[in-house]
Amino acid sequence: MLHLHTRTEPAWGEAALGHLREILLDHAHCEKKAASTAIGLMFRYPDRPTLAIPLAQLAREELEHFEQVTVLMRARGGELARQTPSPYAAELLAGCRTHEPSRAVDTLLCCSLIEARSCDRMQVLHRALVTACNAKHPDVDDALVELYESLLACEARHHGAYVELARTLGDRAEVDRRLDELAAHEARVLAGAPQMARLHATL
Ligand SMILES: [Fe+2]
Ligand SMILES: [Fe+2]
Repeated sequence: MLHLHTRTEPAWGEAALGHLREILLDHAHCEKKAASTAIGLMFRYPDRPTLAIPLAQLAREELEHFEQVTVLMRARGGELARQTPSPYAAELLAGCRTHEPSRAVDTLLCCSLIEARSCDRMQVLHRALVTACNAKHPDVDDALVELYESLLACEARHHGAYVELARTLGDRAEVDRRLDELAAHEARVLAGAPQMARLHATL
């Protein structure tokens, strides 16, 4: 269960097929950012022993995803380059409370929602890629389909892992209530995101 208030329509996946170069580059940056966020939280909360090992595991997995996406992107003739990110993550995190321990709970819940949205988008993209591959789309091959198949399962697990981490820091019912509030905020942020070929924007 992803806890999202909205789900991505299949039309987004079909539109994304026309921007695979940009989407893959954005995806590589997202994986790198996910690793950096997990490590950043380890440094921000060295006094929270429940967080350290799960965050270290998350960071390692995200770095591995970064490598996988980058290798596939290069095999398709692309290369790492600077790219303007979607304002989605910054706007989502702006909804976090600023006093501790609420800030820690909210940050972990926002991370869980980013992972959930990544999973939602990857599910839709994967479905569009399968259809395109079967129809012999010139830009889609088995390697691309298989990459998304393997990654979306991980992102669903990451979503749950961040929710569990937040629950170690507060009352479970209170954390779940806050997750629902932040999920409503996340849906508004995504709906208001600019039109960009990014995993967390509109197309
Ligand atoms: Fe990932
Ligand atoms: Fe992830």
